[in-house]
Amino acid sequence: MRLAGKLAVITAAASGMGKAGVELFLREGAKVVAIDVNAEALAQLAAEAKARGQSVETLQADLSRQEVMRSSVHEAAARLGGIDVMWAHAGIPGPAGIEDLDLPAYDRAMALNVDSAALAAGEVIKHMRKRGSGSLIFTASVSGLVGSMFSPVYSAAKFAVVGLTKSLAQTFAPDRVRVNVICPGLTDTPMAFNFTSRSGDPAEAAANERKLLAAVPLGRLCRPDEIAHAALWLASDDASFVTGVALPVDGGFTAR
Ligand SMILES: NC(=O)c1ccc[n+]([C@@H]2O[C@H](COP(=O)([O-])OP(=O)(O)OC[C@H]3O[C@@H](n4cnc5c(N)ncnc54)[C@H](O)[C@@H]3O)[C@@H](O)[C@H]2O)c1
Repeated sequence: MRLAGKLAVITAAASGMGKAGVELFLREGAKVVAIDVNAEALAQLAAEAKARGQSVETLQADLSRQEVMRSSVHEAAARLGGIDVMWAHAGIPGPAGIEDLDLPAYDRAMALNVDSAALAAGEVIKHMRKRGSGSLIFTASVSGLVGSMFSPVYSAAKFAVVGLTKSLAQTFAPDRVRVNVICPGLTDTPMAFNFTSRSGDPAEAAANERKLLAAVPLGRLCRPDEIAHAALWLASDDASFVTGVALPVDGGFTAR
C-alpha cells in the first residue's frame, strides 16, 4: 500500500476526481478527511466507504470563504492527528466572457481557485512542518498551461495556481514539503459540462466537446480515476524527489 499510515486531506472530495481520490487513497492505506460544500454528497461518500468496510472523515465547508478554508485545515489536522498530504482540489469554471465582466462571478472564481489554494498552503505548512515532511498537491488545468478556448478568467486563475506551486516548491523545500500541481484535460465529471456549455445548451456542449477532443491526441475525455492516480503518485514516496512540477494529465493536449 503506497500511502500506508499517511494522514491525508482532500478538498472538493464528494464528486468527480476528488471522490476518486478519496477512494484510491483509502485503498492505499491513508486516513482521509474529505472536505466539500455538499453535505448530502459527503454523506453518500461516507456510506459508500462504510459499505466497502472503510471509513472516511467528512467535513462540510464552503472553501470559497477565507476563514472557513483556514479553519477547515486545522479541523482536519485535529481529526487526523496531523497532516502528511493535502490535495487542494477545489475550483470552479467562473464566468465565460471578459466583455462586461461579471465581477461577482469573477471574485467567486478567484476565491475558490486561487485564494483557497493560497490559504490552504499557508495553514497546512504548519502541520506538515510538525510532521517533518509533506506533499501538497493543487489542481489547476490544461487551462493553466495554455490559454483556455472558453474562459480567460479560468485560465488566469489556473495560471496563478501553477505560479503559486512553483514558488511554494522553493519556499517549502527547507521543510521537506513538496508542492506540485495536476493539470487535467477535459475530465468526465459533472463539471466538464460547465466548461463546454456556459449557456446550459446540450447542443453547444456537444459541439464544444467535439472541438476539444479533436485537439486531444489520445482522442477521449480523461477519467476521474486517472487524475486520482496522478495525485496518488505525487502524494506517495514514489515521488520523493518531485517538487514544483505542473503535471499535465491530458492525453497529449498540451504536447503540440
Ligand atoms: N472536470 C474537468 O474537465 C476539469 C478539468 C481541469 C481541471 N478541473 C478542476 O478540477 C476541480 C474540480 O473537480 P471535478 O471536475 O472533479 O468536479 P466535480 O464537479 O465532479 O466536483 C466538484 C466538487 O467541488 C465541490 N465544491 C464546489 N464548490 C465548493 C466550495 N465552495 N467549497 C467546497 N467544495 C466545493 C462540489 O460540491 C463538488 O463535490 C476544479 O479545481 C477544476 O477547476 C476540472
